Amino acid sequence: MSDESLTLPDLAGERVRLREWRETDVAVVQEASRDALIPLVTTVPQTAGEVEALAFIRRQHDRLPSGAGYAFAVADLEDRAVGHIGLFAAGDARASVGYWIAASQRRRGYAADALIALTSWAIRREHLDRLELYVEPSNQGSCRVAERAGFEREGLLRAWKRVGGRPRDMYMYARLTERARAAAADASG
Ligand SMILES: CC(C)(COP(=O)(O)OP(=O)(O)OC[C@H]1O[C@@H](n2cnc3c(N)ncnc32)[C@H](O)[C@@H]1OP(=O)(O)O)[C@@H](O)C(=O)NCCC(=O)NCCS
Repeated sequence: MSDESLTLPDLAGERVRLREWRETDVAVVQEASRDALIPLVTTVPQTAGEVEALAFIRRQHDRLPSGAGYAFAVADLEDRAVGHIGLFAAGDARASVGYWIAASQRRRGYAADALIALTSWAIRREHLDRLELYVEPSNQGSCRVAERAGFEREGLLRAWKRVGGRPRDMYMYARLTERARAAAADASG
């Protein structure tokens, strides 16, 4: 993803901080490996071994230099990692967002706060016009997280992605960046 900097920013929300993954965060990756959904829809390993979890953390450090995008640990206000959020290149001036919070840390507002912090930063990136995320219709928590961060549901993508080997429908949510909104206002005015 081309941008002005190859340094991962530190982003502050009200309840979380988005920061670089550290090897000391390994336990939260191991917890995520035991989740029924997270390993099916992310690159979190399917087994909860420490070696695999550390390899996951090292892969996150490659995301920015390789041009894939920005991968952050979501940390609570005591700096303990509770989950993950990433912004990844999706072609042209689009980027897609993905996130998860470890099961023991849910329903505390962490995902919504993390997405709000990431979005507030990303909508000011000059090289982006559009942020997207895909949510299974049954994932009410994630739909709510998206809406809390100002994403709008644009439609249902049928059989968009295989999850656990089965085709699944996904809602497409999107939020335009400031640059794209300004361009749209210029074109209509
Ligand atoms: C979806 C997920 C990220 C939500 O994380 P979270 O930290 O528990 O979410 P928050 O605490 O920020 O909740 C935000 C809102 O969603 C609601 N919510 C969260 N989980 C919910 C659930 N399972 N059912 C209904 N509402 C839910 C909260 O009540 C809150 O609502 P409010 O804004 O009205 O107060 C988390 O459950 C998760 O990681 N799931 C597995 C992976 C996943 O689904 N990732 C997203 C893929 S698109």
